[in-house]
Amino acid sequence: MLQNALNQAKSYMKEIVLPEDHVVDATAGNGHDTLFLARLVGKNGKVTAFDIQAAAIDATRERLVREQAIHQVTLYHGSHADLSTVVTLPIRAAMFNLGYLPGADRSITTTSDSTWTAILGTLNLLLPGGRTVIVLYHGHESGKRERERVLQQVADLPQEQFQVLHTAFLNQQNSPPELVVIEKKKQPVR
Ligand SMILES: C[S@@+](CC[C@H](N)C(=O)[O-])C[C@H]1O[C@@H](n2cnc3c(N)ncnc32)[C@H](O)[C@@H]1O
Repeated sequence: MLQNALNQAKSYMKEIVLPEDHVVDATAGNGHDTLFLARLVGKNGKVTAFDIQAAAIDATRERLVREQAIHQVTLYHGSHADLSTVVTLPIRAAMFNLGYLPGADRSITTTSDSTWTAILGTLNLLLPGGRTVIVLYHGHESGKRERERVLQQVADLPQEQFQVLHTAFLNQQNSPPELVVIEKKKQPVR
């Protein structure tokens, strides 16, 4: 059976993330993805995870402590738009699981401007061969705008430097999430 966008995102991460790597979770939420990444990089790796909601940071911390994976994670309570100042070392990968925190206030959601600022920030930090994966939820109004903006911008990334993939289920109801994968090329093609 075909995998949904989130599982596809995880597969694209698993393919490249190695123990001891540094990666970013741009939207920590309830910490499921942060834990997934923390396990990939292991005790000697590093995950920097962002969220603007204290409830999300708390939920993520609790999950990581319970699963004995807090050691390799730095939690940043603030916007991923700050990424370029918070993260200064190269990263292997970054993950964006956009939208609102499940079970919380649905009006607090990721927004086009800060999302694009953060995506650009990750692209500057990616190691050659590294990937930024983005799960887009467009079942709500701001998600629709965010999807349009991200798809428009990623289509303009220079192909000498990046490969960009977009996957979508075309015959499903209720606007299923879509995936964008941006891979930094190993060597610019001349
Ligand atoms: C769909 S949830 C993420 C799910 C999460 N990755 C998980 O595994 O549970 C989206 C999260 O993005 C957060 N968010 C919204 N705007 C943000 C911003 N500017 N910077 C960082 N996080 C943001 C929300 O608070 C919410 O927790």
